[in-house]
Amino acid sequence: MMSITTLLIILMMAVVGFSTDYDWSSKHFNYLVVHNPPFDFVFQGPNGSFTSYGTGQNIAKWLAAKLKYQYSFSLINQTLIDKYGTYEAAFYQVVHDEDIDGIAQNFYLTMNRVQRLDYTTHPGWVDGFRLVVPRLGEESRLFAFIGPFEPLVWLLIFISVLVIVALMTSFTIFYKHYPWNASQVEKNKKNTEIDTSTVTKRPVSRNILLHYLGSHLIYVINIMTNQGGSEAFSYFSFRVLAGIWVLCATVLVNSYTGIVISSLTTPKTKPSVDSFEDLAASSDTEIVLRHDTFIGEQILQATSGVFKVLGDRARQNPENIVGDVFKVTEKLETGHYAFPFVQTFVVAFVSSQYKKDQQCRFKASKPLPFSTGYYSWLFKKKSSYTDAHSRALANLWETGLTNFWAYKVFLPSVPRADQCFVKSTHRVSRIVPIQLSDLTSAFLIFGIGMGLATLSFLLEVTILKISKVVVSLM
Ligand SMILES: *[C@@H]1O[C@H](CO)[C@@H](O)[C@H](O)[C@H]1NC(C)=O
Ligand SMILES: *[C@@H]1O[C@H](CO)[C@@H](O)[C@H](O)[C@H]1NC(C)=O
Repeated sequence: MMSITTLLIILMMAVVGFSTDYDWSSKHFNYLVVHNPPFDFVFQGPNGSFTSYGTGQNIAKWLAAKLKYQYSFSLINQTLIDKYGTYEAAFYQVVHDEDIDGIAQNFYLTMNRVQRLDYTTHPGWVDGFRLVVPRLGEESRLFAFIGPFEPLVWLLIFISVLVIVALMTSFTIFYKHYPWNASQVEKNKKNTEIDTSTVTKRPVSRNILLHYLGSHLIYVINIMTNQGGSEAFSYFSFRVLAGIWVLCATVLVNSYTGIVISSLTTPKTKPSVDSFEDLAASSDTEIVLRHDTFIGEQILQATSGVFKVLGDRARQNPENIVGDVFKVTEKLETGHYAFPFVQTFVVAFVSSQYKKDQQCRFKASKPLPFSTGYYSWLFKKKSSYTDAHSRALANLWETGLTNFWAYKVFLPSVPRADQCFVKSTHRVSRIVPIQLSDLTSAFLIFGIGMGLATLSFLLEVTILKISKVVVSLM
């Protein structure tokens, strides 16, 4: 058994050892800085000058102060960025460039990175993954009046209108014009203004048929459009028919009106992409990938499953595979792309776009199926500095300063955009008045009706003229 004194001595040796097993006061660390919003920002000026700030650089400064060494920041070689992508260029320089000691940023550990570089065992940052996706607009209301019923229902309604009108007409004709009731037929013929001609010997002339058809059709349509209207005939079978039609129309009309009203009062948005599966199935939204990030590599290297599908889609259009954050932002802002990346980036991007446009054009998807990302500090392979930095990072994490820095860097510059992160299912029906855009379908019908009426008027006028001409010619 170890005595407490021995334990204390070992502990003291450890503490003393920690503070004296290196002397880096003459050491100068040269860190690469990466433009990586919302964590770090690098702004390049003319002839190689640049200004930069951010969480990664704060960590680097803190580490330098803690471990007592000098530090400086450099830009990544642009030639290498163009060749390998931003992150890969940075790794390349750490591996090959004698002057570069590290990168002022935390990195997700992949097998490839671990094989090439040393990493701190304690992470400098912890984050999940999400997709930035464009919010799709509201569905067009132009055809809202067709929407409530599916085509089959419309077809059946059409058929039943025809059947009802045909039945009503044949009943009427049967009652009023059946051959063995000659006096009735005579009476009807006298009563009917249309049928004043004595040309026909048949009980039902074409004009009478059209007259009945027209009046029954108007009746049926009146009932369907909730306008009511009375029928002239009081025969029992006729009443049964009319009654059934009224009942039928009540059900149809009420369900139709209900759906139209609810579609006018609740804005119906197209469903946005919320996962990799949605994205793979989506025809509106394409994927944009960074080939130099962990997620980009995973998707591009996949040989099966949804990652393979997404990778193939990105490869179909090589412009969608990019190597730096500027191109990603450029693509995302068009509103046609989704981009998988760390959650903090996603939140910051959605918020900053809200600040720019004053509306939520983007949203964050559900968390992606990766385990939480632990982001480490990378050094040259077999570096003697890694362990000391690892312990220092653990100390830093305990202080909570990293989170403070991260949020201090991006929060003041973006407004709170809470409404951009509300789940769309929680949206309540709106209380604003119905707008013109909601009623486009009604005005469409109005326009078509006006056009048809004018057309038929013109047709009538020309036909009248022609017939007059024909008559005068004869
Ligand atoms: C950058 O330009 C300034 C003048 O504008 C010049 O004095 C300076 O030497 C230049 N630096 C480099 C690295 O070329
Ligand atoms: C950038 O990298 C290329 C290729 O390695 C090299 O030729 C060039 O000198 C580098 N530029 C700077 C400014 O270090």
